[in-house]
Amino acid sequence: MHFSNFAARYQKSTGTVRLMEDLGAATSASGCICQLGGGNPAHIPEVEDLLREAMADLTADTLAFGKMIGEYDAPGGNVAFRETLANLLTEQFGWPLTQNNIAITNGSQSSFGLLFNSFAGSFPDDSHKRILLPLTPEYVGYFDVGLAEQPIFEGRRAEIDLLPNRQFKYRVDFESLQLNQSHGAVCVSRPTNPTGNVITDREMDQLRGECHNAGIPLIVDGAYGLPFPGMIFTPATPFWDANTILLLSLSKLGLPGLRTGIVVAAPEIIQLIQNTNAINTLAPSRVGPTLLTPLLQQGKLQNICDELIRPYYERKRDQALQVIEQVMDDLPVRVHKPEGALFLWLWFDGLPITSEALYQELMALGVFVLPSRPFYPSELSNSRHQDECIRVNYAASEGAVTSGLTQIAQVVRSHF
Ligand SMILES: Cc1ncc(COP(=O)(O)O)c(C=O)c1O
Repeated sequence: MHFSNFAARYQKSTGTVRLMEDLGAATSASGCICQLGGGNPAHIPEVEDLLREAMADLTADTLAFGKMIGEYDAPGGNVAFRETLANLLTEQFGWPLTQNNIAITNGSQSSFGLLFNSFAGSFPDDSHKRILLPLTPEYVGYFDVGLAEQPIFEGRRAEIDLLPNRQFKYRVDFESLQLNQSHGAVCVSRPTNPTGNVITDREMDQLRGECHNAGIPLIVDGAYGLPFPGMIFTPATPFWDANTILLLSLSKLGLPGLRTGIVVAAPEIIQLIQNTNAINTLAPSRVGPTLLTPLLQQGKLQNICDELIRPYYERKRDQALQVIEQVMDDLPVRVHKPEGALFLWLWFDGLPITSEALYQELMALGVFVLPSRPFYPSELSNSRHQDECIRVNYAASEGAVTSGLTQIAQVVRSHF
């Protein structure tokens, strides 16, 4: 088989490939598995009941069901959904949006590829630009999407604030930010995967100002954020303006199987996505938007987020923290202040092995977590901290979280 240079990009294993393979391996493995890796959201029975009801209503509606499965949607995505969402965001947050500010993709992951390669890589004046990640560690899924020969990411190391109760919080180091001509956009996930950090309003304001001054867009990945799924446990104000590209997703509502991503941006960016959708996939899926439109119109989605999803994850977070207190009391562990999303980021200060080796050892025991290094762009200079952390997804069952954390404690203890 002779593959092109293009195929070479997809022939190697990467952080994202490994993450998704681990998910598959854990699903098909026999024996006792603690799946605390991957980014699967929880199965929340009450939420699934409501979604099942909405799907039953939809399948009972002959016309709507027929259109959903039997017709390609508009290349920018379902117009009724985009109009409904634009009105809702305008009402809720005062953002001046119409359907021309919203596009649908087959999952946020595919939006990143398009956006990052549109704002980074080679430019007509022969310059090369990069996406600046002001606060690393950052979402592993970003790092493999670049199509350019040269790296398209540049990361800045976070400042670390030590907090009571063996917690810590990452903070943007604005002195090292130094936006310049070589940057095409800035991107943050808020809440952040892998750390559960929620970048503060003040940090966001400053990033927004610096991007505006540099004339480059600020990309905000709200996969876990506001208005949905709303997995934020600390005060945080969402924002949007014409220089902001906000990415939303239906996945963490409990619908990753529907592969629906949403981009809220200036019309010229929406047009770009629309054209890319047409070229690459003809049209995005219309299942997610068709299912969600009535829930948005009836205000039910907001209730689902406020009354079911957020309290559920808060409870899960607290249970996981309690287990850590019990089983890691004697270990030099710190937990990043868990302010959102569904992860705990554990820092074993002075860990005698790398977290990559720890990850391998845990996997052999059937405990799946993620090591820290893949969450940093490879160009970032090394620091010990990059190899001392692991990410734990606490959406799994209480038994799996307790057993997994207990085994993590045992293995880490054996190395100290
Ligand atoms: C921070 C973050 N952004 C985006 C995504 C991708 O979401 P989607 O399922 O919409 O592709 C994920 C998935 O885990 C994520 O953690």
